[in-house]
Amino acid sequence: MSDIQTVRVDLADRSYPVFVGRGARHELATHIGSQVRRIAVVTQQDVPAALIPDFSPFETHTFIIGNGETHKTLETVQQLCRSFSDAGITRSDLVIGVGGGLVTDVAGFTAAVYHRGLGVMHVATTLLGMIDAAIGGKTGVNIPEGKNLIGTYWQPQAVACDMDALLTLSTQDLQCGYGEMAKYHFIARQDLSLLPLGQRIARCVEIKGDIVASDERESGQRALLNYGHTLAHALEIATDLTMPHGVAVSVGILYAAHLAQVMGRITSKRVQEHYDIIHGVYNLQTSLPDGLDSSAAINLMRRDKKALSSLTFVLDSSDGLQVVDGIIEQDLERALDLLRRRQG
Ligand code: GLY
Repeated sequence: MSDIQTVRVDLADRSYPVFVGRGARHELATHIGSQVRRIAVVTQQDVPAALIPDFSPFETHTFIIGNGETHKTLETVQQLCRSFSDAGITRSDLVIGVGGGLVTDVAGFTAAVYHRGLGVMHVATTLLGMIDAAIGGKTGVNIPEGKNLIGTYWQPQAVACDMDALLTLSTQDLQCGYGEMAKYHFIARQDLSLLPLGQRIARCVEIKGDIVASDERESGQRALLNYGHTLAHALEIATDLTMPHGVAVSVGILYAAHLAQVMGRITSKRVQEHYDIIHGVYNLQTSLPDGLDSSAAINLMRRDKKALSSLTFVLDSSDGLQVVDGIIEQDLERALDLLRRRQG
């Protein structure tokens, strides 16, 4: 078995370890508090049972939630709460989410509200979950008005990024993770591509952990984690969520690079470096969905419910990524044109 790396997310008395490596899921048992009597595992049908650690001698109950964004709802949370109650789960017990971002977001949110909050740990079983969703304490569910509009910050007590899970992932699931992974190259301004995968995952966790430690509730730096996400959210809506999140993020990152270029913030050489990472290193999609016209894309970006008063982008500069407000429509259009031209 390969070595397990431990990355610490430093949040004072809410600090926690993230274990990365093959078999990392087995590390969680040693961190379970002495008051815990029951464990509520929240997972999905298609998560391989072998990825759920054996928590004996704790009394363990397993709860299955549905697949797909349509199940990321308050109804699912309510159903879980009712099932927890039936199983006798109390405030001193522990929830463990085993799955991708949907599972860890829903398990985390349920843990935050059931009995006014109980402990939660996660076993991230997707690459995207390992480097993003399971880390940092954002939890949430969707409403028809937008994704993740209801949620809490509820930090886990420990996270396992078990690389055994990567062997079970489809190409599409891996691509989703790579889209988010590419983002960290630009946040940290570091070429991560030379690191072996385990070390690269640990480095992404460390980059995210440091940002979360400095700005847990996203009043500044944490917004940088949304690099590429303004267009990505629009593309997900435009394609009725058929475009996977990480793929949308990869196109969104290239768009953000072109937007920064149009605004004179970065050179064309730096734009090329974005293509080198997105396409060259990760072989990710670089093109907009067929048939998407510019005004529809811009309108969807404006409708992003989490946007502040005006359209906000995370954009590159010679000093690194920055949050930029008040971008004019003409620049948005010109950047879309540049992105299309690179496709043709
Ligand atoms: N996924 C972005 C964040 O955790 O802030």
